[in-house]
Amino acid sequence: MAKIFYSLGFLGLSALSVRGQAALYGQCGGIGWSGSTACVSGSACTKLNDYYSQCLPGSASSSAPATTPTSTGTASTPSGTSSAFTILAGGYDTFVATYSFNPNTKSLTLISKSPTGMDPSWITSHPTKKNILYAVNEVASGQLQSFDIDSKGSLSSAIDTISSGGDSPAFAVALSTGQVAIMNYNSGNGRIIPTSSTPEQFSTSASVITFPRLTSGVSHPHMAVEHGSEVLVPDLGGDMIWRLVQDGSPGNFKIQGSIPQPQGSGPRHIAIYNERLYTLHELASTLTVQTIPQAPNGTASIIASASILPPNPPAGAMFAAGEILIPAPTTKFPTPYIYVSNRNTGVQDPRGDSIAIFEHVNQGTSSEGLKLVNQVFTGLDQVRGMEFGPADKNGDQYLIASGVAGSAGVIVLQRTEGGKNMQIIAKNLDIPTRTSFVWL
Ligand SMILES: *[C@@H]1O[C@H](CO)[C@@H](O)[C@H](O)[C@H]1NC(C)=O
Repeated sequence: MAKIFYSLGFLGLSALSVRGQAALYGQCGGIGWSGSTACVSGSACTKLNDYYSQCLPGSASSSAPATTPTSTGTASTPSGTSSAFTILAGGYDTFVATYSFNPNTKSLTLISKSPTGMDPSWITSHPTKKNILYAVNEVASGQLQSFDIDSKGSLSSAIDTISSGGDSPAFAVALSTGQVAIMNYNSGNGRIIPTSSTPEQFSTSASVITFPRLTSGVSHPHMAVEHGSEVLVPDLGGDMIWRLVQDGSPGNFKIQGSIPQPQGSGPRHIAIYNERLYTLHELASTLTVQTIPQAPNGTASIIASASILPPNPPAGAMFAAGEILIPAPTTKFPTPYIYVSNRNTGVQDPRGDSIAIFEHVNQGTSSEGLKLVNQVFTGLDQVRGMEFGPADKNGDQYLIASGVAGSAGVIVLQRTEGGKNMQIIAKNLDIPTRTSFVWL
């Protein structure tokens, strides 16, 4: 217990108010909790599980769950016409969920569930036409599907469906070229599929790109990121980031080179910012930064490597790093902090999984490095999917996140302290788990 209290103190969780009352959405009880069990007025301490009680809006006599919308009038208004945001969420099920998040009322409301093919675990929007959505079907005979999105954030029935060319596609992204990249985690291959003049229609002419199976392991392409004329693909099984370029007509790509990663590190997701390559390694739970080497096979040593693991994990915790995000700087958040999720697939931490926040310091100098600035505990179980939304009219920014396991639902965190910290401000428990998000 002392250990847990120490960690919370160390992190300076802003959910604890100075007057001895827990703040709205702050923790107010649970096994191991030694802080205040009183909530600020207008909220009531509500038990979510044995380890976590939280101050939720409402009076003490009410047992209103977090999912109760405070106003049904504003909740269903699509983005653009009010201060509410519409967010789509994929998962291991047969639908894409539509939520409305209202920063003013701090409410996250489930609006609808639109039927899709099986296991739309990764969803992504068209780069310019926000009313078009692509979703994977993460099954043995993997598929890519396209949908139109109506003004209420609901999906049409699937407009087109095409094979991913392999087993269990866990990622897709629409490129600026009108092609959609989809990577098959289990079968070690992928396709970059052209669309026709209507971006919802796929061309059948895409070849299957097979990633070499190295002696060190089995290829597991996990993502694809467009960078200039290249598409970079981190391969968890091969400890490699492959460099693809189009070879002839759209849909035909070849591996032109590679950026090797530390042996056994398991690169999962990458981000590129200001000519630096940031790699999140699932197996090693490390974040590294390096310059982008010259194509095709130039080398660039890793400038800095940092552990992303939270302090004092419970015995039996097993970490498999999830997502990396670097939101573009804004006036209110000028520092490009790096946010990475610590997915714990072993014994659960009573605090839930954490999101680590890093700062890339002294770029371009001999003391360039990665500095851990915070570990934010989320209450989520196996946090994986998370996505930042656009700034609201006050310049505030929010992160939506969910776990793959348990029933902690979906949370929205607000960036605070210039991005060095985050605070949970809304939660919805209607659907227990979600795996990827698109802000409309
Ligand atoms: C670069 O690496 C790729 C893939 O590893 C290989 O196929 C290619 O021959 C290399 N190219 C050069 C110019 O060395």
